Amino acid sequence: MKVERKCKIVSKEWLNQDAVYMVLEVGDMVRTSCKGPGQFVHVKCGDGLLLRRPISVCSCMEDEPEDTLAIAFEVRGEGTAWLSERQVGDTLDVLGLLGNGFQVRPEGRYLLVGGGIGIPPMRGCAQYTQGRSTAILGGRSADKVILQNCFQDECAKVLVATDDGSLGYHGFVDALVRQELSEDKNYDAVLACGPKPMLRNVAKVAEEFGVPCQVSMEERMGCGVGACLVCVCDMKDGTRKHACKDGPVFDSKEVDWDA
Ligand SMILES: Cc1cc2nc3c(=O)[nH]c(=O)nc-3n(C[C@H](O)[C@H](O)[C@H](O)COP(=O)(O)OP(=O)(O)OC[C@H]3O[C@@H](n4cnc5c(N)ncnc54)[C@H](O)[C@@H]3O)c2cc1C
Ligand code: FES
Repeated sequence: MKVERKCKIVSKEWLNQDAVYMVLEVGDMVRTSCKGPGQFVHVKCGDGLLLRRPISVCSCMEDEPEDTLAIAFEVRGEGTAWLSERQVGDTLDVLGLLGNGFQVRPEGRYLLVGGGIGIPPMRGCAQYTQGRSTAILGGRSADKVILQNCFQDECAKVLVATDDGSLGYHGFVDALVRQELSEDKNYDAVLACGPKPMLRNVAKVAEEFGVPCQVSMEERMGCGVGACLVCVCDMKDGTRKHACKDGPVFDSKEVDWDA
């Protein structure tokens, strides 16, 4: 059941020059609508006609008197700039929890791959699998690889790649996925979120090694609930699915990567 609710910001921290981490009190939203890691909330950004903006659940917890939910987002345009200017004590209009997240088993072991603003939802997967998973995090430069400390605490192993070589491996995350899978294929699945070219490459490597792969497609969104066509994704079988309602997570083999 999705809920629209006014949610109070209980903490806010800048992770780098452009990225904010916020914790919200969300009433009983986690208890009533959490299906597992990889879902998102649709947050009203602005007082005018501006649409809601989809932001992944980074971490969430059933709690008393209210459940809590953390998001981490980068300022990209008008909506996220408005959101970044909100302060502790302000309330946000939040619709959630939306979408279908990753198919994960708490006792499973996964290779989690997050690129840029695709890093936050992978943290939920790390927490869900209680320290057994490996994380591969990528960004344009060292400061863009957000939440590293959380993954260090919540994963068995963390590898980092940066486009400019300022931290970790100099290159893209799919090279690290290849390196890891060639040393250890004993993962239940590769779970990935990030820009489409990254997802395509990660999916290709996973397929080469015969490891199942799920991808979270961060398409542009309108309504967030299946009522418009902004978020359609082309599937290999010729059908079109809504990232907001059918996804955002899909089996990588279902996606038409050439569309
Ligand atoms: C399911 C889902 C989960 C998401 N989770 C997160 C998250 O956890 N953290 C986070 O920082 N962002 C996340 N995003 C992306 C975020 O929704 C966009 O960055 C945001 O909507 C931009 O709004 P804006 O008004 O600030 O910018 P706009 O003015 O709308 O756009 C500014 C720039 O951002 C680009 N942009 C817009 N939407 C997206 C998108 N979906 N993906 C990539 N680039 C986009 C535009 O092309 C443009 O260049 C998620 C998107 C989806 C669909
Ligand atoms: S965003 Fe409107 S149908 Fe998905």
